[in-house]
Amino acid sequence: MAHPERISLAQHLAAQADLPDGLIRVLESVAEACVDIAALTAQGALAGILGEAGHENVQGEAQKKLDVLANDLMLAAGERSGQLAAMASEELDWPCVPPEAQGDYLLLFDPLDGSSNIDVNVSIGTIFSVLPALRDADWSSNEAAARAFLQAGVRQLAAGYVIYGPATLLTLTTGKGVDVFTLDAEEGVFFRTREAVQIPPETGEFAINMSNQRHWEAPVRHYIDDLLAGKTGIRGKDFNLRWVASMVADVHRILTRGGVFLYPVDARNRDRGGRLRLMYEANPMAWLVEQAGGTASTGRGRLLEVVPETLHQRVPVMLGSRQEVETLVRLHAETV
Ligand code: AHG
Ligand code: MN
Ligand code: MN
Repeated sequence: MAHPERISLAQHLAAQADLPDGLIRVLESVAEACVDIAALTAQGALAGILGEAGHENVQGEAQKKLDVLANDLMLAAGERSGQLAAMASEELDWPCVPPEAQGDYLLLFDPLDGSSNIDVNVSIGTIFSVLPALRDADWSSNEAAARAFLQAGVRQLAAGYVIYGPATLLTLTTGKGVDVFTLDAEEGVFFRTREAVQIPPETGEFAINMSNQRHWEAPVRHYIDDLLAGKTGIRGKDFNLRWVASMVADVHRILTRGGVFLYPVDARNRDRGGRLRLMYEANPMAWLVEQAGGTASTGRGRLLEVVPETLHQRVPVMLGSRQEVETLVRLHAETV
């Protein structure tokens, strides 16, 4: 049976008290870009989107064709909104400052999350975050523009992701809980299909790249050892491992049936501060998780309170069901 209500994203946003028109326009633009990315994703090889683009991004990662296409679509949509002072992306060394842009908002995004899954037809996504543009910000140089973005995650005005899976879903928060919208691809419109999402407090599932085990720090090793010990171990129950290698898909599962997601700092990534990027991967996901009743930490502090020093800064990430993240935080505190 079809979902009974047909509340579109536009209707949902219009009904939110205190949501400025400019911010609504930004969110609608992001959704428009993601409808286009979803269409390309669904066409796969038929749209010629598979494979490498042939260059590297600022992170030193080989860009896929879809990384570049998705980035271009997000930039064009952001500029069309007319509400942005600047945009920052995983795929751009420096912020993009649209000509004559005077908008009140900054848009940050990971245009294509889970790039290693594109060619193997596994769920991928787009992650986005909106921050306020400070009135006295200086846009005259790349360095100054990048500095305007360096705000902690607690300052986000909106955050979300789109997951391109069996269905295309948009998950959004503007600070009043989390709602999920499903794309009607024929109409090109997202309709609300879940409201006030809550992460179940207890879980039997965890997500971590186990192949990095030998590089982990002691608290993470300790925590995962306890989970792996199962019923006869200290936790007294069996835990199941799931790792999609697209953060959007792993977080979406946690927002649906609970769990915990970890990408910790380890011996291999310590010089860079972790694996995932703070401003356009960790912060939007952390806010969604908190808004859904979960917790997001670096292991040593609340993730949303980390004050960024650089635009592409990385951070250790531990998020999901509250009890699990609290256990991780306790283990970190005990081993300092
Ligand atoms: P991206 O494709 O934007 O570079 O991000 C990939 C991230 C994240 O989505 C995922 O959880 C993680 O990298 C996968 O890491 P492993 O390669 O260690 O599995
Ligand atoms: Mn990513
Ligand atoms: Mn990416």
